[in-house]
Amino acid sequence: MTRERSGPPGSGLDLHLDWSGRPDSHALAEALRAAIRDGRLAAGSRVPSTRALAHDLGVARGTVTRAYAQLGTEGFLLSRQGAPTTVADRLRSGERADPPAPRPEPRSPRWDFRPGRPNLSAFPRKDWLAASRRVLRSMPADDLDYGDPQGPPALREALAEYLRRARAVHTSPERLIVCNGYSEALSLISRALRANGVRSVDFEDPSLPHFRTIVEDDGMRVHGIPVDDDGIDVGALRSPAAVVTPAHQFPLGVTMRAQRRAALIRSAKTEGRIIVEDDYDGEFRFDRKPVGSLQGMAPEAVIYAGTASKTLAPALRIAWLALPARLVEPVRAMRTHGRYGPVFDQLALAELLRSGAYDQHVRRSRAAYRQRREQLLRGLDGLRSRHRRYPAGISAGLHLTLRLDPDGPDEREVLARARSRGVALETLGPWWVNPGDHPPGVVIGYAAPAEHAFRPALAALLDTLDP
Ligand SMILES: Cc1ncc(COP(=O)(O)O)c(C=O)c1O
Repeated sequence: MTRERSGPPGSGLDLHLDWSGRPDSHALAEALRAAIRDGRLAAGSRVPSTRALAHDLGVARGTVTRAYAQLGTEGFLLSRQGAPTTVADRLRSGERADPPAPRPEPRSPRWDFRPGRPNLSAFPRKDWLAASRRVLRSMPADDLDYGDPQGPPALREALAEYLRRARAVHTSPERLIVCNGYSEALSLISRALRANGVRSVDFEDPSLPHFRTIVEDDGMRVHGIPVDDDGIDVGALRSPAAVVTPAHQFPLGVTMRAQRRAALIRSAKTEGRIIVEDDYDGEFRFDRKPVGSLQGMAPEAVIYAGTASKTLAPALRIAWLALPARLVEPVRAMRTHGRYGPVFDQLALAELLRSGAYDQHVRRSRAAYRQRREQLLRGLDGLRSRHRRYPAGISAGLHLTLRLDPDGPDEREVLARARSRGVALETLGPWWVNPGDHPPGVVIGYAAPAEHAFRPALAALLDTLDP
C-alpha cells in the first residue's frame, strides 16, 4: 500500500490517496472513490486538476483523465466545460460521500441565566484583534516552538504585575503556571498533591460537582465542608488540602470574613494544610473595592488560581496558578510535554494586560454587571407572589443565589417553569456534597444575556419566579 499526496504548486489542494498495486487509472479511480466515500473529499468540493494530480503522483495525465472520466460516469464527479471538476453533491443510492454528521450541540437557551458565563457579546474584539496583530508582527520565531511548560514568560510577567496590583497576590513570573482553564489547573494540583501522598481534598459544600469530579478522577477522596455566612467552617476541615472561593463563595455568594481567613491560614500553618484559592470572579465586587486575595496573606500556604473565563471568555481556556515556591516544580512536573495551550492567545492576553485594555474591559464589565444586578434585585422586589425569596451573599460576581420559600414552588417546579419559558438557570440541589435537608435555591447568572436582550430576558426570568 502506498500513500501519496497531491498538491503541486498552483493546485492549492492537498489530498491523501491510498492505493495498492500499479498506479493505473483503475487503482486511481478506486483510491478517489474511497476518499469520496469516507469524506476526505467532501460533496461539492473541488478535486485537483488532471494536470496537477498527474504531476503530483508522477503518472501520465491520461491516467488521471481516464480515472476522472470513469468517476464521472459513475456519478461521483461532476465536470463541466471551463469549470473545475467537483465531487457530486448527491451520490447514487447506496453510495455515501460523507460520514454521518455529528449531532449538533444543543442550542443556547433563549434566555440564558446559567451562572458562570460572562456577556460574550461584550468580548473586546477590537482590543483582542489589535493585541493579536501586535503579537504576530513582533513575536520572534522561537516563540513558535513547544515553549515553556509554565507558559510564555511574557504572559507570566504581565500576569504577575496585574495580580500584584489588582488582587494583592504575592507572586513572581517564576511562580506562575499558565493553564488550560481552571479545570486543568485543578487537575495539575491534585496530581501533584497525590504524588506527594495526599489522598483527600476538602471542598466547600455546596460547590461545583465537575471540579470535585476532576479531583476524584485523579484518585482523591472528596469531603464536603459546610459554608455559613462567614465562609467555610474551618473547624470542620479534615483533609491536607482544601479548595475555597473566599472572595465570593460559589454558589452561595458569601465572602469569607477576616476572622475566618485568619483561622484558615492558621490551620494551614499549624496542620500543614495547603489551601487552593479559586478566585474565579474576584474582580467583580460592586459595593466596595474587591477584598484582596487570601494568598497575599500567606503565599507559602495558599495556591492562588485565577481565570480569564469570567473577565473575557471561557473559550479562551486560559487560567493561571500562583504557587508557593516548594510546589512550583511538583506542579510543573505534571504538565505533559506539548500540552501547554495555544501560544498566540496567551501572548495576546499578555499584550492586553500590558496595554491596559484588560483593566479597561474589566472596569466596563464591572459597571455593566453592577447595573444588571441592581435591575434584577429591583425586579425581584416587585414580584407579586406571596412567596418570599432571599437573595444570598454579597454584591459581587456574575451570579445571584436566591433562597426559595420552603412553602412555595420547589426547585424542580421552578426549573420546569423556567424551561417552558425558554429560561435557563440552575438550582442548588445538585451542588450539595453531603446529603441532607438543604434549603432550596436557584442560581441566576445575570451576565450572559447580550446587552440588547437583557430586558426581555429579565422579564422572562421574573415571570418564571412569580407563579
Ligand atoms: C467556581 C468556579 N471556579 C472556576 C471557574 C473557571 O473555570 P475555567 O477556568 O475552567 O473556565 C468557574 C467557571 O465557571 C467557576 O464557576
